[in-house]
Amino acid sequence: MIIQFKQYDSVTRRRIKQIQQLAAKQQVGCYLVGGFVRDALLRIKSTDLDVIVDGDAMALARAFAREHNGKVTVYPDFLTATVSWDQAGSLDFTTARQEIYKKPGALPRVKQGDLRADLFRRDFTVNAMALQLTSSSRGTLIDHYGGMDDLRCGRIRILHDQSFKDDPTRMIRAVRYEQRLGFQMHRSTLQCLNKSVRQGALRTISLDRYITEIKKVGSEFKAPEMIGRMRRLALFHRLVGTAAISKARIHRIQQRYQRLNESARSEAGECWVIYLIELLRNVSTARRQELMKCSILSKGQKQAITQFAKCKLETKVVLKQKKMKPSQVFVLLKDNSSLLVWHAYLSTASAILKDNLESYWNAWNVKLKIDGHDLNRMGLSQGRQVGAMLEQLKMKKMDGEIKSKSDELKLARELIKQELGASNE
Ligand code: CTP
Repeated sequence: MIIQFKQYDSVTRRRIKQIQQLAAKQQVGCYLVGGFVRDALLRIKSTDLDVIVDGDAMALARAFAREHNGKVTVYPDFLTATVSWDQAGSLDFTTARQEIYKKPGALPRVKQGDLRADLFRRDFTVNAMALQLTSSSRGTLIDHYGGMDDLRCGRIRILHDQSFKDDPTRMIRAVRYEQRLGFQMHRSTLQCLNKSVRQGALRTISLDRYITEIKKVGSEFKAPEMIGRMRRLALFHRLVGTAAISKARIHRIQQRYQRLNESARSEAGECWVIYLIELLRNVSTARRQELMKCSILSKGQKQAITQFAKCKLETKVVLKQKKMKPSQVFVLLKDNSSLLVWHAYLSTASAILKDNLESYWNAWNVKLKIDGHDLNRMGLSQGRQVGAMLEQLKMKKMDGEIKSKSDELKLARELIKQELGASNE
């Protein structure tokens, strides 16, 4: 079977051609593998090229960078190199390799291998196919493990029985691909997964690695469906410990947080944290403290998780009662994590609260046309006073009481007159 690259954009096609030309010149075997191949066969567009080299990938990457003005970074321990360009993304070159798992759940040691071994070390058959890039057989599919057949049947299948034990993150990956592609796990794969869960395989990976997988799940279009499936397969114990995630909770997540990553809100890139906050609702303080040590979570994300636990948005009760002035909402909420405010918005059925939170977001966009220099020229000299007055003017603007620059100047003059009058008394 030959795959054509016509469906891809010109940048991707050009890159593929450049790799092919260099591989021919250097006489090394080069292949595209993994998600790109899977998606190409499913006619899903993807621009993430993953290149496997039957030989020294680092040397090939260096040569590629020289020819195409890229910057190369090598990772000798992983036999991998990345070529990157300021404006044109990056490209990974990996030496065909074998992986040796010394301990279940630990990161593997790698050693050079051939393409067949490289494909065998992968998670699922549908991700274990390659496209040849040598000139005579460009685009020829290499499928040693029945990946094409599984793609046709909509099956997610591991390559060997040790797969989930070697790398338990694959259990979450299996759910992700199942739901994303509308596939189903093969019967024996599902049996292996259940067995690995019973044996506590997920306990062998760090919380950081686990949360990295949650991040991927929470960033997917079908995140709510994936979360439901993960609960049914008991894949949340690693995260929540003894705290249960009820069916009703999952139902609520599915009702309230559909398609978050399409949301227009600026935190959309962090929508996975919203799911995380929900999943962590009932966890123990000890588990929360453990989470605070995770390096995958940013300071802001940790703050959102902690504030949620302490119910820092208790002001919600006030905000539900009546429509407030934007400036009042702003004062009440400005010290809260923006993720938490977004969570409150998504999880409430109260139209008044939603309305108040919308004014809060709009309030952040309010900018004055005048600045401290204008106030200095009007006679206000001290830094602290200037700052406080600008804040006061901004509040008035949030509430729509002033609009234009001349409104701002006029009000500033009045306020300064009062201020100076008061301090002269
Ligand atoms: N892989 C694996 N086991 C893992 C992670 C990755 O075998 N735990 C392999 C798979 O062959 C996968 C490839 O490495 O296709 C690249 O991984 P990744 O970029 O995470 O996945 P993609 O297949 O590119 O899929 P996605 O569309 O989710 O990015």
